[in-house]
Amino acid sequence: MAIFSQGEKPIGLASDHAGFETKRYIIQLFEEQGIKYIDFGTYTSNSVDYPDFAHKLGRAIDDKECDFGIAVCGTGNGINMALNKHKSVRSALCWNAEIASLARAHNNANVLALPGRIVSEKEVYDMIIAFFNTGFEGGRHQTRIDKIPC
Ligand code: RB5
Repeated sequence: MAIFSQGEKPIGLASDHAGFETKRYIIQLFEEQGIKYIDFGTYTSNSVDYPDFAHKLGRAIDDKECDFGIAVCGTGNGINMALNKHKSVRSALCWNAEIASLARAHNNANVLALPGRIVSEKEVYDMIIAFFNTGFEGGRHQTRIDKIPC
């Protein structure tokens, strides 16, 4: 049995060099699980600028090529900030499974942003399980999300 049931579209993955190893772990997990994904880079551990990869994933979500994504940089903050400039993206910086689950239930997050230099592979695994197995609760949370754009 798969760790979560995927929708029709591939999950978009993006990282900078500081998130590269964590993204590699996620790719290995998705390969083992038969989960479809698109890797928007970076593809080596050479130093790069996280917005270049955040925007590739953000554009794929804006263009409806992907419904969901996972983004990793060192702290998770930079890649999260860049992703949230995209109109269709609600990217949530998460560091444990409870926050990842609440990011879906309360914020209808469509990108899981991770601090690759801070979290362990086990924590990443647990966050992926929590994020992709939790549905949005709607109701008062939808009212609040509707007030986010300025
Ligand atoms: C790269 O050294 C680091 O600054 C970056 O991965 C990220 O943590 C920025 O928010």
